[in-house]
Amino acid sequence: MSLVRNILLWSSKNYWISHKLPKYKFVQKSVSRFMPGEKLDDALSKSYELENMGYGTIITYLGENSLSKALTLKTVNQYQDALERIDERSLKTVISVKLTQLGLDIDEKLCFDNLKQLLKEAELKNTFVWIDMEEYIYLELTLKIYKKLIQEHQNIGITLQSYLYRSEDDLKSLLEIAPYIRLVKGAYSEDSSVSMQNRNEIDGNYLKLANLMLEKKILKNGLIPSFATHDHHIIYSLINNINAAEIEKYHYEFNMLYGIRRDLQNEILKSGQNLKILISYGEEWFPWYVRRLAENPKNLFLLLK
Ligand code: FDA
Repeated sequence: MSLVRNILLWSSKNYWISHKLPKYKFVQKSVSRFMPGEKLDDALSKSYELENMGYGTIITYLGENSLSKALTLKTVNQYQDALERIDERSLKTVISVKLTQLGLDIDEKLCFDNLKQLLKEAELKNTFVWIDMEEYIYLELTLKIYKKLIQEHQNIGITLQSYLYRSEDDLKSLLEIAPYIRLVKGAYSEDSSVSMQNRNEIDGNYLKLANLMLEKKILKNGLIPSFATHDHHIIYSLINNINAAEIEKYHYEFNMLYGIRRDLQNEILKSGQNLKILISYGEEWFPWYVRRLAENPKNLFLLLK
C-alpha cells in the first residue's frame, strides 16, 4: 500500500484535520466532483436525472461512528425522510447505510433496532437497504446483525470486500442465505494480517469471488450479485464471462460511485448493462471524501491545484 494512501486514510480519522480542512473553500469545491450537494434534495434531483438517462440509483447519507443515541436517531430520521421523498417522487432509488452511523459503536441492540426500523419502512415503500461494510473491527458484528435481519426481511443486501483474506469464506457461508451481495475491493487501511496489501492480489481475489457468484447453480438459487467497481479490466472480464455463460442481465448488476469514471459509466450503460450509481449527500463528507482521494492519488493533485 502506498505511503500517500496510508497518510490520507490516517488523516480521515484525525480529529483536528477532519474539523479544519472541510472549512476551506477549495476543499468544498473539490468535493463537488464526487457529490451533487449536501442536501437530500440535491441527491434526489440527481437520482431523477440519472434515472431518466437509464441508470439505477442508490443514495447514502454521509456520516460514520455516531457516538450518541441522538445522532443515530438523526440518521434514522434522515433516511425516513429520504424513503418518504423517494416514494413521493416515484423514484426507484434504494438506500445504503453504515452501521456505525446507526449506533454500532454504542450498542449492538440500538444499531439493530435502528436498522430494523429502516427495513420495515423500506418494505412498506417497496424498496431496499444496502449495508456498507466498514473497517475490519466491525465485520463480525455487521455479519451477525445482517444474518439476524435477513431471516425476517428480504429487502436487505450486504457488502463484502475482496481485500480481506476471510471474504471467500464469508461469501461461501452467505451464499446459503443471502439474496443480494455487493462486492467491493475495500476502502480502509487494514492490517496485513487480515487484508491483502498488493493491488494485483486484491484484483485477482475480486475476480475469483465475482466469478464464484456468477456460477449458474448459485444464480439459480436466487442470488443477485452487485459488482461495485470502476475497474474496467474487471468489468470487461466479467462481462465476457457473463456473455459466454449466457447469463441474463436481470441476474446481476454493476454499481459505481457518482462522479468516478463517468466515461466508463456511460459506456457500460450504453452496452445495455444494469448500472446503479451511488450518490452521497450530507454534511459529514470529510472521511468519505478522503477515502475517495486515497483511491486515486491523481485526485490529490487536482485538489492541490
Ligand atoms: P480501483 O481503485 O483499482 O480503481 C479502478 C479505476 O477507477 C482507477 O484506475 C481509476 O481510474 C478509477 N477510480 C477509482 N476510484 C477513484 C477515485 N476515488 N477517484 C477517481 N478515479 C477513481 N468500500 C468499502 O470498503 N465498503 C463499502 O461498503 C463500499 N461500498 C461501495 C459501494 C459502491 C457502489 C462502490 C462503487 C464502491 C464502494 N466501496 C466500498 C469502495 C470500494 O471499496 C473501492 O474503494 C472503490 O470502489 C475504488 O475501487 P475500484 O474497485 O473502483 O478499483
